[in-house]
Amino acid sequence: MASISLRKVLKHYGTGASAQPVIHGIDAEIDDGEFIVIVGPSGCGKSTLLRMVAGLEEISGGEIAIGPRVVNDLEPAERDIAMVFQNYALYPHMSVFDNMAYGLKIAKVPKDEIKTRVDKAARILELGHLLDRKPRQLSGGQRQRVAMGRAIVRQPQVFLFDEPLSNLDAKLRVQTRLEIQKLHRELGITSLFVTHDQVEAMTLAQRMIVMNGGRMEQFGRPETVYARPASTFVASFIGSPPMNLVPGDAGPDGLTIGARTLALPPGAVSPVQGPVTLGIRPEHIRVLAADEPPAPGHWPLFVEMVEILGAEHLIYGQLGGQGSERPVVVRTDESVPLPEIGSTLQLAPRTDRLHWFSAQDGRRIGD
Ligand SMILES: Nc1ncnc2c1ncn2[C@@H]1O[C@H](COP(=O)(O)OP(=O)(O)OP(=O)(O)O)[C@@H](O)[C@H]1O
Ligand SMILES: [Mg+2]
Repeated sequence: MASISLRKVLKHYGTGASAQPVIHGIDAEIDDGEFIVIVGPSGCGKSTLLRMVAGLEEISGGEIAIGPRVVNDLEPAERDIAMVFQNYALYPHMSVFDNMAYGLKIAKVPKDEIKTRVDKAARILELGHLLDRKPRQLSGGQRQRVAMGRAIVRQPQVFLFDEPLSNLDAKLRVQTRLEIQKLHRELGITSLFVTHDQVEAMTLAQRMIVMNGGRMEQFGRPETVYARPASTFVASFIGSPPMNLVPGDAGPDGLTIGARTLALPPGAVSPVQGPVTLGIRPEHIRVLAADEPPAPGHWPLFVEMVEILGAEHLIYGQLGGQGSERPVVVRTDESVPLPEIGSTLQLAPRTDRLHWFSAQDGRRIGD
């Protein structure tokens, strides 16, 4: 096992005037045995970063260390890592056992050692009864487990996963996610796991790196990233449905949006006066009961759409009444009666769950 250090890691494709910067200087210290998820939208540089750690991609600047060793100039085979990809690419003509054993055979590991390691991996992954099958006789989830088995038997210092679950259907994804968690508990191997799925990131990560356009927007524990997002980007990327972001002008009476001023809930103050973006998650807004009188700090919502998702309802509408053009979403449970489209509800946002972001660069302001 080993720690991983990323120090001012840069990447550009091409040279000279045609150089395309892709990773703009990433710093992160990953502890020995940690499970880190790298999450961000398509094209933000997740795979590039992972491939640089693997040694499959050269780095254009900075330093990567695995344990005490700087690995910038080491070949992938010398880095003591194992990678699991989205396309598990098993050898179709080989049995499950041989697929897992292949890398060890090439490395001339003695036969009985190979058997011990494959049997152990098969036990952990519950593949013991499938060792004689060919890949075509397996389900997608089982194939993905074989691909993980192939990585486990190598007993690497570091696991690198690049969207290993994205070919699986939703149910199997959840199941395999649990297996990966179990695997990490048992083996405790330092892992970097890439995904663009924020639910996967939240549930798997001990800490997560949120990337945007080749930059690290935030590096922290999932509960911190959710509770105190570092920017509007993180706020709208993590959480489903995303955080409501309401740009306005903060003044003594509250937040002015167009022609209307919304009073803030009691105890809430904007950390700045003037242009600012207010954030509040859909689950941190309460809908007032019909017989509850609205008070200062309650906001009217003109209801435009309702989504019924079973245990919860999502109510979409415009804040400050009809025509304010600030769509927001509120999450309620079945206990709240479904509103009529076109009606106006009163909302009570939670004072302790308001977020404030700079109108200039979207960074979090205050605490
Ligand atoms: N070989 C290459 N040459 C030039 N540009 C590249 C090359 N490989 C990747 N890129 C660019 O680098 C950027 C980051 O790509 P990368 O594959 O790391 O994104 P990603 O976050 O993994 O996206 P996805 O979620 O779609 O897999 C993209 O803009 C991509 O077009
Ligand atoms: Mg990728």
